[in-house]
Amino acid sequence: MVDTEKLQEKLGEVLGLEMSAQKAVEKLGSKGLLDENGMLSKLEKMQSQAGNHQSKLEEIVHNLANESGGFDPMKIQQVAQETAQKCSTMMQTYMGPDPDSSEAIEFLCLAEGGEVTHYEVLAAMSKKLGGKMKNTRKLSTTVDSILREEKRHLALCTRLAKQTAISE
Ligand SMILES: [Fe+2]
Repeated sequence: MVDTEKLQEKLGEVLGLEMSAQKAVEKLGSKGLLDENGMLSKLEKMQSQAGNHQSKLEEIVHNLANESGGFDPMKIQQVAQETAQKCSTMMQTYMGPDPDSSEAIEFLCLAEGGEVTHYEVLAAMSKKLGGKMKNTRKLSTTVDSILREEKRHLALCTRLAKQTAISE
């Protein structure tokens, strides 16, 4: 059974991951860690797609909240903030005090891998909900399209990590 609370939790998590993905590219890029092999421009495109995913999710949350009184956008925002905080701590731990380009792009692989997994779960939950509410059908198609793009993000980061590893 997919209940509202679980759906809210998962939506909050993916929202937090999208926020973190954008911040991570910005932070690592500003430290000059994404300069090799023309990585930065490709990753900036990925970053802008993450911003786009964030807007789509926020619109869906807004519509679900309008349709159902049991849906709480504040709770989702709270989970998103907590998730973003956890990601930022993880990034600091993973990168250590003196990170190099390989560590930077490999961290992005981890982050994108996490996004793919979370969207897979959210897609399964959305599918199970089916057309229960008017907006759950829209949720399902949007999540499926974001998931396809996240898989491309992970493939891009993996390719860049391999290139970086053999060119160092
Ligand atoms: Fe992504």
